[in-house]
Amino acid sequence: MTATFRTSRPGSAADPSRPHVILVGLPGSGKSAVGRAVATQLDRTFLDFDLEIERREGKSISEIFGEQGEAYFRAKEVTLTKELQQFGNMILAPGGGWIMNPDVVGLLRPPGRLIYLRVQPETALKRLGTRRSLRPLLSRPDPGGELQRLYEQRRTVYETADHVVDTELYSLQGVIEKVRELASSRA
Ligand code: S3P
Repeated sequence: MTATFRTSRPGSAADPSRPHVILVGLPGSGKSAVGRAVATQLDRTFLDFDLEIERREGKSISEIFGEQGEAYFRAKEVTLTKELQQFGNMILAPGGGWIMNPDVVGLLRPPGRLIYLRVQPETALKRLGTRRSLRPLLSRPDPGGELQRLYEQRRTVYETADHVVDTELYSLQGVIEKVRELASSRA
């Protein structure tokens, strides 16, 4: 893990006595862009799960899926989530499928708070643009259909988040502002 994790202490950017804020939603919902901006504004530590897993494995997410398979990747998500239990106050952006394992969500919530960045699959596909090729689940012949299928499969679970921000209603700056308000409120 990064130095920021290792030096975590009360009052620091990863203060273990305070809950994590966890951004969930489809690929293309803006979890990483929003999370990074909010963390900077609130002086908290941001962690993008996919980047951390890529760093640890020395491979891209596509390579991990291709060489070791999805189950291996999901196990890495669980390991990372367990480690995060000893920290707090971070802004976390797990991949879009993380929430589908209730046991893994239960490791951080409570006390962690989930914020769902809601987006329609068509909009998510447009936002991803060519970056969709970095997502193994969307590197298939019909990425729009795949995203729609993921949305149908996951939407009710995403809606169990503590807060929902409909990203279709705001600009990126507007979403950042909403999430910042939610992340800094104690409710
Ligand atoms: C996945 C989403 C990806 C990444 C992996 C699987 C998913 O993350 O974790 O490709 O199951 O939706 P993003 O949501 O950041 O694209």
